Amino acid sequence: NSSEKSQMTNAHMLLQKFYHHLLLNTKEGQHAYDYLTSRDFTDDTIKKFGIGYSLNSWDFALKFLTKRGFKESLLEKAGLLIEKEEKFEYFDRFRDRIMFPIYDHKGNLIAFSGRVLGKGEPKYLNSPETIIFNKSQVLYNFHQARSHIRKEQKVILFEGFADVIAADRAGVFHSIATMGTSLTDDQARIIRRNVENVTICYDGDNAGVEAAFRAANLLTKHGCTIRIATLPDGLDPDDYIRKKGPESFKDDVLGASLTFMAFKLKYFRKGKDLNDEGVKMNYIDSVLQEISYLHNAVERDHYLRQLSSEFSLSLEALKEQLQKFSKKNS
Ligand code: GTP
Ligand code: MN
Ligand code: MN
Ligand code: MN
Ligand code: MN
Repeated sequence: NSSEKSQMTNAHMLLQKFYHHLLLNTKEGQHAYDYLTSRDFTDDTIKKFGIGYSLNSWDFALKFLTKRGFKESLLEKAGLLIEKEEKFEYFDRFRDRIMFPIYDHKGNLIAFSGRVLGKGEPKYLNSPETIIFNKSQVLYNFHQARSHIRKEQKVILFEGFADVIAADRAGVFHSIATMGTSLTDDQARIIRRNVENVTICYDGDNAGVEAAFRAANLLTKHGCTIRIATLPDGLDPDDYIRKKGPESFKDDVLGASLTFMAFKLKYFRKGKDLNDEGVKMNYIDSVLQEISYLHNAVERDHYLRQLSSEFSLSLEALKEQLQKFSKKNS
């Protein structure tokens, strides 16, 4: 019910303000602040993203919020407290973590994600699903990025919060991320409602490439036009920006993004010896398969000609082969 929901967001807002204060202004928060500084977080970004620090205590949030009139059972339902087995006793979910507030697209504070300082498991601890937090519908930073997305007519989709924050620091404000899970139908729908052009910029590892492929397919299905920006192996966007700087990120990563088709071609031939006849034939088949999915005749023609000239094949032969794939699709 709606009064319960607003109490839950209110509890989050009070706590967020205090976490933020602890991080910026207190001795208890100093090591957390130092950790963020070592990762190049600035005061401006800490403020813009409302980042905070949760004390190393089992009952700080519990006392802080119950003193202000919130019921323990409500706070448990909001994901802020955890109930001990059958005991009607509660303790804080978030302890000794960097706290990232999570907002819905209207800017309501609905959850937290807490990062451990340095190494430890889990690296990020999220609020559980609640009546105000549905992970599959949330896009990190969407509420702040929205006006920039509209203005730029595009959005950059990242894997992690840290990437969004680093991009923002680099002046790339139209940046969002999922909550660490694969992009969902709901999220794709929300994106498409606001913008057509999506640049996917996931981590430069195999998992990132696979996830970019899946996200691109899903967004294409929803009517988006995709570009994919790839990173050197082992780096994520945040690592890259810290190592090579904002200008290189904008020019050499975002500026060098590929269309989905070009990304597929690069991906299909990665690590393959196209001098080998069998490998080459397989590659040509995969490309024709992809061409057969294209709706635009001009695009189809473009890629057929590219194949034709690269492998010295006649356009007629390629078109004939393409027919077979097109039949299979229908
Ligand atoms: P940093 O190590 O702080 O730079 O984070 P990252 O953004 O590089 O994290 P990573 O690439 O490992 O994961 C991307 C996203 O997945 C994160 O932003 C989180 O949303 C999510 N994620 C990562 N680790 C965990 C975890 O241990 N638990 C949960 N629930 N989510 C995680
Ligand atoms: Mn991880
Ligand atoms: Mn990763
Ligand atoms: Mn990462
Ligand atoms: Mn990272």
